[in-house]
Amino acid sequence: MVIVLLGPPGAGKGTQCKRIIERYRLAHLSSGDILRNERAGGTELGKEAQQYMDSGKLVPDQIIIEMMVGTIAAAGGNCVLDGFPRTVVQAAELDKELAEKGKKIDAIVNLVVDNDIIERRITGRRSCPVCGAVYHIDTMKPKSEGYCDKCKGQKLVQRPDDKPDVLEIRLKTYHEQTAAVVGYYSNSGQEILNIDAGRPVDDVIARVFKKIDSLVTAR
Ligand code: AP5
Ligand code: MG
Repeated sequence: MVIVLLGPPGAGKGTQCKRIIERYRLAHLSSGDILRNERAGGTELGKEAQQYMDSGKLVPDQIIIEMMVGTIAAAGGNCVLDGFPRTVVQAAELDKELAEKGKKIDAIVNLVVDNDIIERRITGRRSCPVCGAVYHIDTMKPKSEGYCDKCKGQKLVQRPDDKPDVLEIRLKTYHEQTAAVVGYYSNSGQEILNIDAGRPVDDVIARVFKKIDSLVTAR
């Protein structure tokens, strides 16, 4: 099963994906997390991606496509895609790659949320640099303030691209390049589940589960 999660920065893609993979036993493939791991490992790919990520711009399509096609294949095509595709070129390439393997996207979930909510979520987000767990200083607090629940003693950090000036560019990039992916899918006749992602986490996931459960039952 292939599920695609679309939505602007801070919509809750990563947060919802963690719940989806537990229920349906899928791999969570976040292009942003993969790039951050490459950076942490000091690889050539990580070094190349750094300048784009830190300035809120998209990493070039060819680099991302190569990275994600390999990762999806390694997951046996059973995955939730978080942050990919992010351009129409990436979306078309994903369709092509899946079709060559006799597969297709099973569900497209579009998390819709207003800019003021995004700002609050992004400025309050803290994450664990070791396990990638995501928290929020108001809405998803760790048990011990500033420390990861799972990696005892590990301090939480703020992502470098979560600074207000970079967030502004990320949002602009989203509206200029990524929002069109929704249009690409509707023009090609693929159903999109639009969800009000400004609601509490449990409400959002309940709607996502309802949709995916119906797909699983129909298989
Ligand atoms: P990426 O890491 O994908 O960042 P993003 O798309 O900007 O999304 P975020 O991870 O910031 O937000 P999210 O939707 O996952 O929200 P989260 O669940 O954390 O990409 C980073 C960079 O990598 C890009 O800018 C680009 O340079 C590069 N890149 C990546 N993919 C690429 C691609 N395909 N092509 C080219 N370049 C690419 O939630 C946010 C906060 O809100 C958390 O604190 C959470 O606790 C809280 N929260 C979540 N949901 C709720 C809720 N319902 N109620 C209350 N609080 C909530
Ligand atoms: Mg994320």
